[in-house]
Amino acid sequence: MNHELITFDQEQKVFHLHNDKISYLLAIEDGGTLSHLYFGKRVKNYHGQLRYPRRDRGFSGNLPGSLDRTFSRDSILKEYSTAGEMDYHTPAAIVRHPDGANALFLTYQSYRIEDGKPDLKGLPHAWVKNKNEAQTLIIRLEDKKSQLDFDLYYTIYRDRPVVTRSVQVLNNGQETVFLEKAASMQIDFADRNFEVITLPGAHANERHVEREKIGQGIHVYSSIRGTSSHQMNPFLALVDPETTENNGDAYGFSLVYSGNHKFEVERDQFNQIHLNIGINDFNFKWQLAPKAEFQTPEVLMVYSAHGLNQMSQTFHRLIHDRIMRSKFKDQLRPIVVNNWEATYFDFDEDKLRPIVDKAKDLGIEMFVLDDGWFGHRDDDNSSLGDWYVDHKKFPKGLGHFADYVHHQGLKFGLWFEPEMISYDSDLYRQHPDYLMHVPGRKPSPSRNQYLLDLGRKEVRDNIYEQMIKILDGGKIDYIKWDMNRHLSDIYEADLPADRQGEAYHRYVLSYYDLLDRLVTRYPNILFEGCSGGGGRFDAGQAYYTPQIWASDNSDAIARLVIQYGTSLVYPQSMMTSHVSVSPNEQNGRITPFDTRGAVAMWGDLGYELDLTKLSAADSRKVAKQVSKYKKIRQITQYGKFYRLKSPMTGNQCAWMTVSPDQSEAVVTVVDIMAYAQPYCTKTKLMGLDPSKRYEDVATQEIFGGDELMNLGFYDPFANGDFQAKMYHFKAVD
Ligand code: GLA
Repeated sequence: MNHELITFDQEQKVFHLHNDKISYLLAIEDGGTLSHLYFGKRVKNYHGQLRYPRRDRGFSGNLPGSLDRTFSRDSILKEYSTAGEMDYHTPAAIVRHPDGANALFLTYQSYRIEDGKPDLKGLPHAWVKNKNEAQTLIIRLEDKKSQLDFDLYYTIYRDRPVVTRSVQVLNNGQETVFLEKAASMQIDFADRNFEVITLPGAHANERHVEREKIGQGIHVYSSIRGTSSHQMNPFLALVDPETTENNGDAYGFSLVYSGNHKFEVERDQFNQIHLNIGINDFNFKWQLAPKAEFQTPEVLMVYSAHGLNQMSQTFHRLIHDRIMRSKFKDQLRPIVVNNWEATYFDFDEDKLRPIVDKAKDLGIEMFVLDDGWFGHRDDDNSSLGDWYVDHKKFPKGLGHFADYVHHQGLKFGLWFEPEMISYDSDLYRQHPDYLMHVPGRKPSPSRNQYLLDLGRKEVRDNIYEQMIKILDGGKIDYIKWDMNRHLSDIYEADLPADRQGEAYHRYVLSYYDLLDRLVTRYPNILFEGCSGGGGRFDAGQAYYTPQIWASDNSDAIARLVIQYGTSLVYPQSMMTSHVSVSPNEQNGRITPFDTRGAVAMWGDLGYELDLTKLSAADSRKVAKQVSKYKKIRQITQYGKFYRLKSPMTGNQCAWMTVSPDQSEAVVTVVDIMAYAQPYCTKTKLMGLDPSKRYEDVATQEIFGGDELMNLGFYDPFANGDFQAKMYHFKAVD
């Protein structure tokens, strides 16, 4: 066994997880308390003198039976706080025992270290290619009275500044208990004047960067919508006030989960920061019978000593390399035309063919048939659940149209919304009980649609069977899996009354199960996630679908903010981004075609407009964009990503990507508003080789890498609002 990433100092009772970038230290203290010592830049050794100070603190009580008033679980930094143990922080776990009490007093019981990283059953997680890549420390904490064991999992990767955490709860006792809260992790910090960065938003307005001070008290960033949500992405960073994009400490936390989540940040009475992350305990109550286990989702923890850019780069690599599984994660992502904003529901095969023909002429690589091809869905009031083709729109069947698309040299993609049911559907008429609802109550519609009771295997199997009937034909190259409402009226018909608190989480597990069965059966289909745009844009989703529609807002200027926030955690290749018509259909803004192209090239490029209605000039622009994107997409999709200028704080947005060998870079600068007598602005590049010379491909001008990074170049003065400029640099040495 090769244990060098994790050591245990028997004398000091200190665990040290380390690689050459980071250290994570924890210790066993009085009364079997598992305390947190440190997470951050690598330290070689830990000396016990640095322990948490002993001091009698008023109103912070002591260990049961102890006369030592200087040790309190309420003050010391801990790894996992529970209700019922003289700790007034918001608990990581709460258990309800048969006697009605919620007491839980966790004490250290044992540890083991494993090479590699075990899988999380039924849940997405970071994985390892070989066992040498990471090591896992599993610390067992026990509640002696109830014989509940909490196994805290910590994995450290050898070559990444990353620790992953999750918890497994095992009932080794004789009685059934109920878990009322089970966070995936807790971490405490002393003397850090942290600010918190989150990614809140709304439908068509996702993932804005917000940064705020942490006042004393508990601050909650969460979703109770049944999904990770547009409203609060399951991510949070703790940063020092002076931390910037490229300087200072940044701690990033991403929950690998697509359901209800809760990030609790607490600044306590001693100015200590306490952070819990996990499944939201709202309407959560999980029955744990004797011998049963509960697995929490996983959290990815990233440390950066060089600001937010480096934190993001670590997340990007981790999510791309070790969360995504699809074979497409390393392939150039195809340029798509999607008919949604082109036709909405108003189409048939005859109307779509010319779009396909035009797409072919312009060099586009895939046609995606969006909502409305099935049942009798001419608007959004019907047919969800009826996954068979509408013969009115496709008289010769879907296969016939797919053949046409293929014959034109394009791939063929198809939209599904598998978790839903319409009242007006054959599925509802045959199986009204499949619709999720609370017995005796009328469920609330949203977009006039309802959820399936997905926790029931019979329901999942029905949808699975319908989908494979279409997919087994082998003519589908891509699937867009949508979800256009959030959960309400939550109830799982197969569960008894006292287990209804499991329904939210079981919905997510069931969603993962259905999705997993499909992605496993069809490894050659590229799956794209979507939930009214970016409503399920999370690391858990990336485990199944390597790309996700970032937002229903396709306006290039709104997208700057959305994509900027998205880039804090998620790699560019995960984010699909399309050029649509102007004025934009979501906000009416008029933007230049080139700007729309430049912004969409930030992620996986596509077009979401009626190509047949383009003017000759715009058609030429599309052809130019497509051919340009084909030349640069290896770098823009997979290169190292740098945020240069934030649209949240200034009039410009700029970003760039650099190839791994630093021989090529693509830079985009967008001026938002135009001004008379504008200031001179400069863009300074990052990540180039200072000793190399680079050629601007458009002008053939030569610059030193050091010049481009240290001096930067003057941006052209914008003539008109919303102007974008792209640069492509190639090393000549
Ligand atoms: C969601 C998606 C859109 C489109 C529509 C179809 O809003 O985000 O891209 O697929 O559904 O109903």
